[in-house]
Amino acid sequence: MTTIGNDSENPPKGSVAATRVEMTQVVLPQFANSLGNVFGGQMVSWIDICAAVAAQRHCRAQVVTASIDAVHFMAPVKLGHVVVLKSQVNAAFSTSVECGVSAWMEDPLTGERARAVKAYSTFVSLDEAGHPQPVPPLTLLTDEDRRRHQAALARRQARLALRAAQQGAS
Ligand SMILES: CC(C)(COP(=O)(O)OP(=O)(O)OC[C@H]1O[C@@H](n2cnc3c(N)ncnc32)[C@H](O)[C@@H]1OP(=O)(O)O)[C@@H](O)C(=O)NCCC(=O)NCCS
Repeated sequence: MTTIGNDSENPPKGSVAATRVEMTQVVLPQFANSLGNVFGGQMVSWIDICAAVAAQRHCRAQVVTASIDAVHFMAPVKLGHVVVLKSQVNAAFSTSVECGVSAWMEDPLTGERARAVKAYSTFVSLDEAGHPQPVPPLTLLTDEDRRRHQAALARRQARLALRAAQQGAS
């Protein structure tokens, strides 16, 4: 079994850095609508995959998407552009983790990049019987890790309140 990269590219186990994922996609014709922009649903699919890999790097177990918070599309991504997605685990709760995902569009001819999407998703770690199981604690090493963690705690409150309201309404 080999690890990827050298020591400086292998951050401490359990740290936020150990969960970091970068994923690249080229916007091919099948991913674009008649205006030549990438489909929103396609972008959500890439977000889900990128964040799931980050969640699995932390949980080292099967994970399922419990929710994706409101997704904000900030700039159109055009046919032929490169989409660069970055994700990391922001917080580990009891049986779930929150992942943040940012997607950037890159013009391959100029190298210009602009943030296109920002999203937060929650994944639940499942045991072999498919039941939620405890996740490992997340080690916060940097001020940026701690800032993201604080923000994730606030989002969790809002998210669980919304879930409870929706369950009450059904
Ligand atoms: C997500 C799922 C596993 C939760 O199962 P459950 O029986 O409701 O379990 P619990 O109520 O014990 O919740 C388990 C964890 O999920 C979290 N959770 C459940 N619903 C959530 C939501 N809508 N948003 C964020 N977190 C949620 C809970 O907070 C809990 O995490 P915690 O232990 O860290 O607090 C279950 O609803 C499921 O399997 N959903 C389908 C998932 C799926 O198929 N996703 C792919 C897209 S269809």
